[in-house]
Amino acid sequence: MGKLDGKVAFITGAARGQGRAHATTMAREGADIVAVDICKDLPYPRYALSTRSDLDETLSQVRAYHRRALGIVADTRSASEMAHAVKQAIHEFGRIDILICNAGIADMALAWDVTEEWWDIMLDVNLKGYWLAVRYVVPQMIEQRAGGRIIMTSSVAGLKGMPGLSHYCAAKWGVVGLARSLALEVAQFGITVNTLHPTGVNTALIDGMAAAAGISKEQLVEQLYADNLLPVRLVEPQEIANAALWLASDEACHITGQELKVDAGLMLK
Ligand SMILES: NC(=O)c1ccc[n+]([C@@H]2O[C@H](COP(=O)([O-])OP(=O)(O)OC[C@H]3O[C@@H](n4cnc5c(N)ncnc54)[C@H](O)[C@@H]3O)[C@@H](O)[C@H]2O)c1
Repeated sequence: MGKLDGKVAFITGAARGQGRAHATTMAREGADIVAVDICKDLPYPRYALSTRSDLDETLSQVRAYHRRALGIVADTRSASEMAHAVKQAIHEFGRIDILICNAGIADMALAWDVTEEWWDIMLDVNLKGYWLAVRYVVPQMIEQRAGGRIIMTSSVAGLKGMPGLSHYCAAKWGVVGLARSLALEVAQFGITVNTLHPTGVNTALIDGMAAAAGISKEQLVEQLYADNLLPVRLVEPQEIANAALWLASDEACHITGQELKVDAGLMLK
């Protein structure tokens, strides 16, 4: 028996990285998966986002667990695309029990060097995109009258300031405000809302950020995550998926409005 048997999880940014780990981990535990991703590049960040073949790989890894997988190409910044994605998910599976807001971007620049376009795209993807998923999924969860789980990936950057990441931090702190307010609003329906706060995670985002900043991956990691107390600089996507799985499982049924750090102790300093 899986921990999520009979559940449907709607995951944004699921083509690769942490989103793929969430999809495969939840499928392993019995959930059917709606995997949403943009599958194309944006003018910002200054590195490549996912491709359609990345998304297809996630779908095939989910199906290897004998779960159903629906891939949807959508931009989380677009109200019409997110509304359509949720409609497609309901058409296919009839319900959504778990929402994972994960699609995100990162890039480094000093606050006064961030252009207006960079600021807007950062905030649109990393904050508005989370809200839009909520906007269309929550009414469905309420209508189902079966509770629900909402998990939003923030970051250690959503709990502290980080040089070169002012726009990213602003968005990731914003996610905490969104999650805490939403937790108050949906508790009456048995829906929990929690945020995850990873330290550096070994994904294409880190490689992309380093390349865009013109430094090596090792230099970037040293710059941002030297305060990890445990002897590790980057954690693996699977470790974040393990935390999300717990939050989505019955074991965490009365846990809401929390900020769960998966940070190797970084925030203790
Ligand atoms: N990697 C890290 O060190 C780290 C640390 C803390 C938090 N995070 C957060 O974790 C989340 C996942 O990042 P990751 O590390 O897996 O990076 P990643 O780049 O591997 O994955 C992000 C995915 O989001 C998708 N995406 C980006 N913009 C989108 C949009 N507008 N619409 C739909 N999909 C879009 C990308 O195509 C990509 O597949 C992000 O929110 C990120 O900010 C990452």
